[in-house]
Parts: sequence; structure tokens; C-alpha cells
Amino acid sequence: MYYGDLVCLRAVEASDVDNLIEYYNLLELRRFLGVPLPVSRNYLEQWLAKRGDSDPWADGLLELSITDKQTRESIGLIHLEHIIKPHNRAEFGISIHNPDHLSHGYGTDAIRVILWVAFNILGLHSIYLDTMADNERAIHVYEKVGFKRVGILRESEFLDGDFKELLYMDILRDDFARANPGFSVRTRP
Ligand SMILES: CC(C)(COP(=O)(O)OP(=O)(O)OC[C@H]1O[C@@H](n2cnc3c(N)ncnc32)[C@H](O)[C@@H]1OP(=O)(O)O)[C@@H](O)C(=O)NCCC(=O)NCCS
Repeated sequence: MYYGDLVCLRAVEASDVDNLIEYYNLLELRRFLGVPLPVSRNYLEQWLAKRGDSDPWADGLLELSITDKQTRESIGLIHLEHIIKPHNRAEFGISIHNPDHLSHGYGTDAIRVILWVAFNILGLHSIYLDTMADNERAIHVYEKVGFKRVGILRESEFLDGDFKELLYMDILRDDFARANPGFSVRTRP
């Protein structure tokens, strides 16, 4: 369990599928997360079980549930994937599922927590991500925690009938320390 100011990041449980199935098929969420085709409970259960059981070193993936620290409610997923030695590099991703939970500070807190884990527990050095270049809220949060813009893939994501830009960002261990002075994961709520 890794505690931030608002969230606790914990191992994925089978019951997390209830939150996922309720919101994951909302187009307003899924349009930010790749090809927005409907997904079934059966698919999500198997997908979640596989990702939840992954080992960061053997499988290159750490998937965690974002929960509200006070209520313990499951509110989203966050991961590091394509974890590669000896480069100590990984790709980052996040989704908070219920639209009512967006812009309440959970995302910023959860990202700080997983980056702290990446740099201080997994010993990673560089984390990168891609995002739709029009996902302004996500980009604002990523820059707030220290990610830098490193490039654009032009006309590379087909969405809403058009080819859109994908923005790549990355953060190094020192960038994180500079942008989040004194931040540390708590061991208790
Ligand atoms: C992106 C995401 C993780 C951010 O988490 P969040 O909990 O919603 O964000 P926070 O509440 O921590 O912070 C939101 C910030 O964005 C700002 N913001 C909100 N809407 C914005 C917009 N349209 N443009 C720019 N900034 C915006 C808020 O003012 C706030 O900034 P501040 O703290 O400096 O005032 C979350 O919104 C999410 O999961 N979205 C859906 C899926 C997604 O986009 N995932 C990322 C794919 S790359």
C-alpha cells in the first residue's frame, strides 16, 4: 500500500472490475485511452486478472488500483509498463473512471505516488508516456508533476473521424525531485 495525500495505491483485486465495467464504456473516458470499442465484463475480468498478477521484472508491468484514502472506494487504475532493464525505463499510464471524480486532485496525487515508487522502490530512471495532444487536463497534470514534452507523432491516432496528434512526454528522477520537493510516499493513511 502506498499512501499519498488523497489516494492509496494498492494491488488490483477482482472486485475492481465493478468500477471498471460501470465507467469504462463511457466514450468521454475511452476516447483518451486508445481505440474506443465497447468491452464486456468477461473481457475486463480476464484483462484485469492478468494485469493484476503481473510481476514488474518478469512481465515488465506494475498495475495498481487507485483508491480514495478515506472511503477505500476504487476509482481508477495506474500502471508502469514496458519496464526494461538495463535501461531502467518504463511507460506510464493512468485512468480515473468515474467522470464525477475527475479534477478533484486524485490524478495528481496518484501520479506523484507511482513516480515516487518508480524512482525509489523500483529504481527506475526514466518514465515516458503518450497522450492525445488535445488532452489538456492530462497534459496540465503531467507538467505539474514534472513531465516534459519531448515530441509529437503527427496524424498518428484516428479518433472522431480524423487523424490526431499524439504527444510524448518523459520525466527523469531529477525532474521529479525538482518538481515535487520533499514529496514522499506515506506508509499509513
Ligand atoms: C488525466 C487525469 C488522470 C487527471 O487526473 P485528475 O484527478 O482529473 O486531475 P487533478 O484533479 O489532479 O488535476 C486537474 C488539473 O487540471 C486542470 N484542468 C482541468 N481541466 C482542464 C483543461 N480542460 N485544460 C487544462 N487544465 C485543466 C485543473 O485545474 C487542475 O489543475 P490545478 O491542480 O493546477 O488547478 C484524469 O482526468 C483522467 O483519468 N482522465 C480520463 C482518462 C485520461 O485522460 N487518462 C490519461 C490518458 S494519457
